[in-house]
Amino acid sequence: MEPAELSCFPSSCAHSQRLIHMATYCLPVCLLFFRLLSSVKATLQHCTAEHQVNLVDLIRKYNLDDYGYIKMINFIRSTVSIYDYIHFLYAPLPWESEDFLQPVLQDDPLLQTDPEELCGSEGSCLASGADPHNALVHRAQAAEERARSSEEALARAMDDLHKLKVLAQGLVLNAETSRSGTLGGVAELREDEDEAYFSSYGHYSIHEEMLKDKVRTESYRDFMYSNPEVFRDKVVLDVGCGTGILSMFAAQAGAKKVIAVDQSEIIYQAMDIVRSNQLEDKITLIKGRIEDIKLPVEKVDIIISEWMGYFLLFESMLDSVLYARDLYLADGGSVYPDLCNISLAAVGDVQKHQDRIAFWDDVYGFNMACMKKAVVPEAVVEVLKADTLISEPTVIQTIDCNRVCLSELEFSSDFHLKITNTTDCTVSQIYTYWLLFICSLSTCYTKRNNIVMFSTGPQVTKTHWKQTVFLLEKPVSVQAGEELQGKITVRKNKKDPRSLWVTFELRDRKQTYSLQ
Ligand SMILES: C[S@@+](CC[C@H](N)C(=O)[O-])C[C@H]1O[C@@H](n2cnc3c(N)ncnc32)[C@H](O)[C@@H]1O
Ligand SMILES: *[C@@H]1O[C@H](CO)[C@@H](O)[C@H](O)[C@H]1NC(C)=O
Ligand SMILES: *[C@@H]1O[C@H](CO)[C@@H](O)[C@H](O)[C@H]1NC(C)=O
Repeated sequence: MEPAELSCFPSSCAHSQRLIHMATYCLPVCLLFFRLLSSVKATLQHCTAEHQVNLVDLIRKYNLDDYGYIKMINFIRSTVSIYDYIHFLYAPLPWESEDFLQPVLQDDPLLQTDPEELCGSEGSCLASGADPHNALVHRAQAAEERARSSEEALARAMDDLHKLKVLAQGLVLNAETSRSGTLGGVAELREDEDEAYFSSYGHYSIHEEMLKDKVRTESYRDFMYSNPEVFRDKVVLDVGCGTGILSMFAAQAGAKKVIAVDQSEIIYQAMDIVRSNQLEDKITLIKGRIEDIKLPVEKVDIIISEWMGYFLLFESMLDSVLYARDLYLADGGSVYPDLCNISLAAVGDVQKHQDRIAFWDDVYGFNMACMKKAVVPEAVVEVLKADTLISEPTVIQTIDCNRVCLSELEFSSDFHLKITNTTDCTVSQIYTYWLLFICSLSTCYTKRNNIVMFSTGPQVTKTHWKQTVFLLEKPVSVQAGEELQGKITVRKNKKDPRSLWVTFELRDRKQTYSLQ
């Protein structure tokens, strides 16, 4: 495993860098072994010798008490690919959340070990937690916490049931709207209308870019390889298989059968690739649009897909995944990735604003100001510099891929941006990024899977999705600590449902941007 790219972290995050480094380097590997090594001593030795992760050192370094130790172990066990666990940048320790009090393994031998015992002969490494009375209190608290978490899990299940009921009602309503032809998803596109889209995926270069994006590809791989119990003997559908990479991961993870579908010409390469890797008995490739073909099976247990676009929803490929889900997913089946958050925040980069906008006022002595009207409304995909970010991010939409329906992919959301800069400053742009759980926290806890997530935010390892940036025509002045209020509205372009209109309302201004 190669070291992750860390250079883009601000130097003030040295502490977080260490953690991320440790995590990306050692944990995915270690974790696979953690599951096999039952003896505490063997595990400790293995981690120290093979992965240079010394649990005793960690207990010392972070001054962990019993409580902290339990959370750290559960964190390590439940988290595989944490390249971009955004909270690292804000929270002092990544396992701070009370969620990590819930054991990942039943009867985990490591949790039945007293951290102080681990430090043992090497001398006590616990700070305040070393007091035996304190230790007891903490253990009691931890037990209470576990009981509370179980109750919460039950409450969530009830909540899910309720949502299912609402969804079922929604489906009936949707069926009616769709008959009147106003739904406007990509399913309604004729094949010739969608030709340009699929020919863009026919060339090898776009697949090379995606495969080389390690944050993306390794997250899918880590999820599948570290959760063989999810895939064993299952029938898997890969919506938009491209070169077939996800299908091959699934086959390696133990799937009984994988059906890989793609409408683009790249599928002919995928056929060769699958044969070259002797996986033709497991993987069936079908050329066609998922909306147009008939699968050789009635139902599948799992749907996997890499459908995410700029601004998450651009390309509207999620429409096709939902189509496949509603038609082919067996009861109790799952869609992965399963949860994503779209977030938005403010940029203060006056220089950049002048370079893009004021520039047109005087071009070699001529006034070209009318060009601003063309420049502003086009969203830009670029990597932002961390020192230009001046607000906390705020979540504007959460998408649960197992439940969301097509109509919810168009939405409006009011937001408040808390300005973090310590002096008064100017908002020149708004940017968006997204966070993706291939397997979300609650699913992973309920099903005891490993969590895998990554983010496309500007403060973590960059991905080929970069960030999506919206220039404000007139920069907005804000005060330190102010909460800037606004509203965002996302609509599909009716003429081309694969492109989007994004409207921002900020102070008394309204601007619509296209993403195409
Ligand atoms: C982002 S690429 C992902 C490729 C591959 N799964 C990977 O991870 O490298 C999406 C692929 O889905 C295909 N695709 C998109 N919508 C589709 C649809 N409705 N039916 C069939 N294939 C589709 C595209 O042609 C493209 O190859
Ligand atoms: C943020 O505040 C610092 C001073 O604390 C100032 O130098 C900098 O220009 C401000 N950034 C922006 C983008 O306004
Ligand atoms: C995702 O968004 C929801 C709110 O919609 C929030 O509760 C959750 O904490 C967010 N997750 C992350 C990791 O940001």
